[in-house]
Amino acid sequence: MRSVLITGCSSGFGLHTAILLARRGWWVFASMRNLDKRAALDREAERAGLSPGALRVVRLDVTDPASVREGVEQVLEETGQALDAVIQNAGISVASTFEELPDEELRQVMETNFFGVLNVTRRVLPAMRARGRGKIVIMSSESAFFGTPLVSAYCASKWALEGWAESVALEVAPFGVRLVLVEPGAYRTSIWESSRLIAPEGSPYAGLVQRMLAKGKQPSHARDPAEVAEAVARLLESNHPRFRKPVGPDARVSSFAHKLLPYGPRTFLIRKLLGLPPPRAQGVELRRHLLSGRARVPRRRATSIGSGGNRTHAGRCETPSRIAPLPRNRPECLGVDIPPRPVSSRPAPDRSAGSCDIRAT
Ligand SMILES: NC(=O)c1ccc[n+]([C@@H]2O[C@H](COP(=O)([O-])OP(=O)(O)OC[C@H]3O[C@@H](n4cnc5c(N)ncnc54)[C@H](OP(=O)(O)O)[C@@H]3O)[C@@H](O)[C@H]2O)c1
Repeated sequence: MRSVLITGCSSGFGLHTAILLARRGWWVFASMRNLDKRAALDREAERAGLSPGALRVVRLDVTDPASVREGVEQVLEETGQALDAVIQNAGISVASTFEELPDEELRQVMETNFFGVLNVTRRVLPAMRARGRGKIVIMSSESAFFGTPLVSAYCASKWALEGWAESVALEVAPFGVRLVLVEPGAYRTSIWESSRLIAPEGSPYAGLVQRMLAKGKQPSHARDPAEVAEAVARLLESNHPRFRKPVGPDARVSSFAHKLLPYGPRTFLIRKLLGLPPPRAQGVELRRHLLSGRARVPRRRATSIGSGGNRTHAGRCETPSRIAPLPRNRPECLGVDIPPRPVSSRPAPDRSAGSCDIRAT
């Protein structure tokens, strides 16, 4: 019988996946950090008509190395060191702007979503490598495709996971161990309600927070989590699973856009979709400056070539062509203080309208 250890089975994807895999004949070790929360899983197991031995409940807190060691040891002992798969599902989120996010909250998200996965992998990998087979399924998210305001910690944890998994997959593949990333879109689980919102009163970000939470914490398009359980089961049972598996229409669109669009258009779309204001134009001052003919060029980048009393310059600055030509004999119009130089015999370069010549050194 194929065996699987799943983390975070007290609710959501973990619970659904545990029940589905047990129904499909897997020997499931459903782990959770707090065994007092097992009632929902037991109820679903009973409803599904599962035999008592089909689903074992194990205590495992992914952020506690001792708990991970004990939990994994128990599973390896029961399976005779022959664990076939692990589903790294446990995860949390917190909603806050970065500036107002306490450091301990940020670290807790990273400890759970990122270091938690590393803790479990470290424990299961030796047995899988020695056996020459094993699958490690990692619950990433469509948040790995784009940044989103208020959930920077969550996004960072999932981006970190993706880079880590891509690297480790290359290391362990020759030993017959596969890493797979599941990237769900929005699904109706308890993560939306359980994630804390940190928004201090009188915050300069109050408008952004209001806008982001106007439609509630959970997006209206969130779908049935059973879909994710089904996708995970198919990945586990496939001989050639894809390394990345976006799940749900929103995740597939995001994945496609991530591959296709550069940062600028992607962020423009996200801003439009979320109804965010455009960034404050920082170029306004500079543009006004340029239009007034006082282009500021860093002093160390400007070199002048003396030509008697009439100094000219070689190279070009980026003055827009619609600006009237700058006077020849006035280097100060560039905002550059150019010291006098000895007379040179080199001819003055040809100058065209709308540009002033500066040589970058
Ligand atoms: N729902 C979505 O739309 C969505 C989308 C993309 C990705 N995901 C990812 O899917 C995974 C599952 O989340 P979910 O949506 O099913 O949310 P959920 O219902 O809140 O489930 C999260 C599970 O993780 C457990 N957990 C939290 N910290 C833990 C720890 N330190 N050690 C062990 N277990 C811990 C929770 O246990 P407690 O009950 O004790 O807190 C719970 O069982 C997460 O990694 C999440 O990032 C979710």
